[in-house]
Amino acid sequence: MGEMVNIKVNGAQMEAEKGSLLIDKLLDENVHIPHFCYHQALGKDGNCRMCMVEIEGQKRPQIACDTPIKDGMEVRTKGENIEKVRRDILELELINHPIDCPTCDQAGECKLQDYYMESGFYESRVNVDSKTNHAKRIDLGSSVMLDRERCVLCTRCTRFCSDITKTSELAVLGRSDHSYIGTFPGRPLDNPYAMNVVDLCPVGALTSKDFRFKQRVWFLDSFEAICGGCSKGCNITVDHRKEKYKDDQIFRFRPRKNMAVNGFFMCDEGRLSYHDENQNRFEIPKVDNEEAILNDAMANIFKHISTTKDILFVISASLSIEEMKNVNNLASKLNANVSGYSPDTFDEDFGDDYLRNTDRATNRKALKEIGISDDETYFKSSLDKSSLVIIVDNGYFNSNLVLLDGKKVISMFSHECATIEKSDVALPIASFYEKSGTYINADDIKQKVISKMKKDSQSETITSVIEHLKEMIIKGTL
Ligand code: SF4
Ligand code: SF4
Ligand code: FES
Repeated sequence: MGEMVNIKVNGAQMEAEKGSLLIDKLLDENVHIPHFCYHQALGKDGNCRMCMVEIEGQKRPQIACDTPIKDGMEVRTKGENIEKVRRDILELELINHPIDCPTCDQAGECKLQDYYMESGFYESRVNVDSKTNHAKRIDLGSSVMLDRERCVLCTRCTRFCSDITKTSELAVLGRSDHSYIGTFPGRPLDNPYAMNVVDLCPVGALTSKDFRFKQRVWFLDSFEAICGGCSKGCNITVDHRKEKYKDDQIFRFRPRKNMAVNGFFMCDEGRLSYHDENQNRFEIPKVDNEEAILNDAMANIFKHISTTKDILFVISASLSIEEMKNVNNLASKLNANVSGYSPDTFDEDFGDDYLRNTDRATNRKALKEIGISDDETYFKSSLDKSSLVIIVDNGYFNSNLVLLDGKKVISMFSHECATIEKSDVALPIASFYEKSGTYINADDIKQKVISKMKKDSQSETITSVIEHLKEMIIKGTL
């Protein structure tokens, strides 16, 4: 951090770093400052002129995104003059805009719409019929659609592709007032992080093929979580909704700013992984491959663990710390071994040198912290000795079922899989986003998630299953 100096914003005294950008200070202090082209991840471009402020001693308004902070600076973002300047710029932006908010997927989270609303609902001075028309519904490739009429040419999307992914698929083509956003022939927008341009676009010009027209955003509820797609643990916002007569359902993931983890972005595969949450769920307990009620399944589990010695728990490396501790605790009461062996979660093709991590398990670091081995030798020797294997959300056996031959098997999964068929008792459990817990990512950062999903069909969490079993053990009875 450089030298700190005193500045005034709208009469309020504050400290700021000398030479840093004024817009960053305003954003950090939650001072309202309209802006299109500036983004903290992409830096300044100065093309939209929406971030005009008055600075004492300067003849003309200045753009806050290209104004370095100086000692004693007095800044005004409010007032008749400066608000009129910004309103005139906004009017320019709106000259050829189609004003199709009622059918635009961005409505409700569009900067252009917000700034127009706050600047006074003025009448348009442009004849709607004389507006320049541009192409709509352009498939850019990957999962992104472009509506050129709505574009304000802020160049956030092109700068993302040139500066962040360095793939440069998008460019400003044409010249002056004929400029437009496009791709080059035969080079669609196609990189593992492409969908971030949808979040970056301040208007409804770029929309997600996956999400568009699925929901009006004001009907969605949200909570903060981490992505369960790999051990990076990117910070996300989960948008979900419980519609009338339907169960609570996730509609999208959006990246959430955390400079220590993922910055502002996430990968497309992680973003679209919410589909897995809604599909192929394992929902009804099974005993000897027949559907059963929960109490019967629990009674069977209790019968197996109270009559069998040499028990091995094989747990997923994506369980939360709390779940791992609970399993460990139960295992020590039963004199059982616990293994977190899970080589199946490593995917060399997935990892890259940006966010995506080769290990798709979200909490392998926690195994070490708690003292649970994920070592192959320990797993194999424990498996050899065991006559009852309790598998907690670990997918390793799905392609190694033969290892379970001749053993009793209890399994707990949130999604259907081959191991369930091989189990004497199988119990459905809550999925990654339906439970709260703590995770340690690949960079040793501990992150807490508090789920707000309210599913009618929500299965028991591992923690509640374990608590129930402990209670049974203490009572020695059902
Ligand atoms: S498509 Fe969106 S992000 Fe790209 S230049 Fe246009 S308004 Fe900006
Ligand atoms: S990099 Fe990993 S944690 Fe981040 S969004 Fe992608 S899959 Fe999810
Ligand atoms: S945000 Fe400052 S000029 Fe666009």
